[in-house]
Amino acid sequence: MKVTLPILETATRTERWRTEEDTRASAARLARHPCIASAFIELQGDLGAGKTTFTRHLLRALGVQGRIKSPTYTVVEPHEAAGFPAWHFDFYRFDDPRELEDAGLRDIFAGPGLKVAEWPEKAAAALPVADLQVRIEALANDERNVTITANTPLGEELLA
Ligand SMILES: Nc1ncnc2c1ncn2[C@@H]1O[C@H](COP(=O)(O)OP(=O)(O)O)[C@@H](O)[C@H]1O
Ligand SMILES: [Mg+2]
Repeated sequence: MKVTLPILETATRTERWRTEEDTRASAARLARHPCIASAFIELQGDLGAGKTTFTRHLLRALGVQGRIKSPTYTVVEPHEAAGFPAWHFDFYRFDDPRELEDAGLRDIFAGPGLKVAEWPEKAAAALPVADLQVRIEALANDERNVTITANTPLGEELLA
């Protein structure tokens, strides 16, 4: 019997990243899906969980060259992936919604490219629904427990 899932059903996958090599491999798997070029990915997790590390591996896998700075002080860092722009956000220090206009975030989200956001909960009201949410939890032994949730058809394609 063929089962059709309702469109709002979320798909979830859990992963264990024992070392940063597992982080790199997981990012590389995501990067193989062509639809990554227009995805919005939220990264959740405490300071030091590995959000920036994961983003760096993802951007590298997508062909970004040169230094990949953490956007902690700038809110957003623009990058050029192979064939599309990639925007790396960090909303940790983001507490005034008026900054939204200054940073031109609406224009960025309305335009093409990959968007990856650390601390999306600090800008939740201003952000669209994420295609994929990656929740990273550092364990006592330094391994990472990771929950990846798809919220849209594009996100489900990324998870496949
Ligand atoms: N899978 C992993 N296993 C062990 N250490 C990791 C792993 N992923 C990241 N790290 C280390 O943990 C730290 C995470 O820092 P960072 O990526 O800046 O975290 P965040 O952006 O979530 O604050 C880095 O020192 C990185 O080398
Ligand atoms: Mg970070």
